[in-house]
Amino acid sequence: MRTPGAVAPVVPRPEPPPAAAGRVPRIRLEGVGKTFHGSGGPYPAIGHVDLAVEAGAFVAIVGPSGCGKSTLLRLVAGLDRPTAGRITLDGRPVTGVSPTVGIMFQQDALLPWRTVLENVALGPRIRGVSRPERLRRARAWIERVGLGGFEARYPAQLSGGMRQRAALAQVLACEPEILLMDEPFAHLDAQTRRILEADLLALCAGGSRTVLLVTHDLDEAVAMADAVALMTAGPASRIRAVHRVGLPRPRDLNRVRSEPAFTHLSRLLWEHLWEEVGRGRER
Ligand SMILES: Nc1ncnc2c1ncn2[C@@H]1O[C@H](COP(=O)(O)OP(=O)(O)OP(=O)(O)O)[C@@H](O)[C@H]1O
Ligand SMILES: [Mg+2]
Repeated sequence: MRTPGAVAPVVPRPEPPPAAAGRVPRIRLEGVGKTFHGSGGPYPAIGHVDLAVEAGAFVAIVGPSGCGKSTLLRLVAGLDRPTAGRITLDGRPVTGVSPTVGIMFQQDALLPWRTVLENVALGPRIRGVSRPERLRRARAWIERVGLGGFEARYPAQLSGGMRQRAALAQVLACEPEILLMDEPFAHLDAQTRRILEADLLALCAGGSRTVLLVTHDLDEAVAMADAVALMTAGPASRIRAVHRVGLPRPRDLNRVRSEPAFTHLSRLLWEHLWEEVGRGRER
């Protein structure tokens, strides 16, 4: 494996973006840039990003630490505005947080003073869903993420993995068409992580949701996604290439990792990521 600094020239082999020609992508970024203005002067975190994600696709975003992955996700979520370019969901410009979008960050957003049931029912409540319906929906999602029987627990009474499950149920109870996830399972042990990855895939099966997943774990990205977008090192990062994952679905997350196509793409991504890490250090 090459070391950062000893970077060989690489001609990226960009794959077509995961959106079919002629169809309006569910998520589209066109020339998106983001410059932060702080006391140290302007910092161009994201240079120019183009990405199109078809409805029902699962796209993973990987890249060196600090390249702008979370920033990009926040822009798509409508939590922040780009300083250049345009983001659309189903052709409509993003102007704020949309009710069709569910967001899951590394740190769960569970309220410590509310039970699991109350936490999961919170999103539908904010959206004006009636009490019987939101409790029905919350119970159903709690059951689906494997937390049945823990409805009356408070977050502090749950393990880390259980909290992440509750957070997943909390987001899914809002029945989002688009799921934006930023390192949602980063703090979990390997086994719990694998179980939750499988849960997430099952919950998104059949293209029922469009998912953008930011992860540091290249194997996770390849095992779960339809396409993996690799970002360059910042400043002014962009997408270096979008690689389609040619693995059939449904996927067994344990077996898929021994498929030659998995090993090949995982290794390729690792080499390209390593080069970007090297470039980032040279800057
Ligand atoms: N609000 C802000 N003001 C100024 N700079 C910011 C702000 N938010 C992020 N940045 C800078 O933008 C760059 C991208 O940050 P971001 O958090 O998006 O990176 P990341 O790819 O998610 O990193 P990591 O993999 O470590 O989570 C970093 O250099 C960061 O310091
Ligand atoms: Mg981040």
